[in-house]
Amino acid sequence: MMKPLSAYPTPPLFDASSLLPWHNSQEAVVTFLINQNPPASRQLLQAFKHSVGSRGKLIRPTLGLLMLEALSGDSSQQLSEADPRIQLVAVSELIHLATLLHDDVLDEADTRRGKPTVRFTLGNHTAILAGDFLLAKASGILADLGNLEIVRIYSNVLAALCDGELLQHELCFDATASTWERYQQKNHGKTGSLFAATLESVGRWLGYPNEACLQLHAAGLDFGMAFQLTDDLLDYSIDAATLGKPVLDDARHGIVNAPLLFALEESPELDGILQGVFTLAQAVEGDTTYTTDALETACQQLKQGLLQTQTLEKTKALASDYTEKALTTLKSLLPDRHSPAFEVLAQLMRANTQRQS
Ligand code: FPP
Ligand code: MG
Repeated sequence: MMKPLSAYPTPPLFDASSLLPWHNSQEAVVTFLINQNPPASRQLLQAFKHSVGSRGKLIRPTLGLLMLEALSGDSSQQLSEADPRIQLVAVSELIHLATLLHDDVLDEADTRRGKPTVRFTLGNHTAILAGDFLLAKASGILADLGNLEIVRIYSNVLAALCDGELLQHELCFDATASTWERYQQKNHGKTGSLFAATLESVGRWLGYPNEACLQLHAAGLDFGMAFQLTDDLLDYSIDAATLGKPVLDDARHGIVNAPLLFALEESPELDGILQGVFTLAQAVEGDTTYTTDALETACQQLKQGLLQTQTLEKTKALASDYTEKALTTLKSLLPDRHSPAFEVLAQLMRANTQRQS
């Protein structure tokens, strides 16, 4: 049960300078990835450089590094690319990048973060094989690290990612089947599983007891919920140019995300408008000017109806609840309650609900 909405303070924006001490370790992750044995194929090399060189937010490896330090007490700052801890956290970034390559094929996305996607520039064929290539690299790194429990964790992640993505696909354009339970299941698979693996693998690497590792996993799933809820929010609250994709992109693809679920609970009459969006979105495949214009009108109507409810505030509040739950679990595992690395990790996790991309 959520607290009253007024009880949720806006978290401060993340101060990027707090991560400065870990900057060299973050760079080491990127260098390690870039320095993987290059492929012979020109197309694959181009796709690899595009993907690994794109320098995303590195959120997964950064959380991994911070948690490593918080749990071990040993500094994770200034690590070199040869350090197995860098290689361990780099695996999560490689798998993340592979999912993006494949996801852009599935979503037929031409841009990501405002830049052309690999599938747009080099074609679906190359994007799929480049994703597979990154997964193969991740498997090789895991083999070299030589920890079978961690190999198992990441093999479960690959299965969960596929399962979550396909569950999302099966629920598309079906507002009745898209329940909160299904929403959580889908998020655990497509988003939470990788955060869970990142945190759990750190615990396993450090030899933490099984129970603690399972809690690290659970905290990752909770943070994954918060992360996906924030992604859902961006679909409504940020303009298309900033986000690099059209607003209400989820609804246009038949995805019933959290803001829609809350809005439908509060204003069941919005279901009629949503069904209209779904019908038109499916018709737009036939692509006539008439249906495209009608879809834009229906999306605007849906957005207006939705903004009259408290759905965005509720989604943000739920993301905040999941973040705090994750942080409480993680804090309970710390050998020393006053860990600077954990403080930064908490800031980073809390600032997630404020992110704009
Ligand atoms: C982005 O979602 C996509 C994911 C978080 C997971 C995608 C998973 C797969 C494609 C299946 C398995 C892939 C591998 C490599 C095992 P989104 O489309 O909601 O968000 P976006 O705005 O970032 O595209
Ligand atoms: Mg996508």
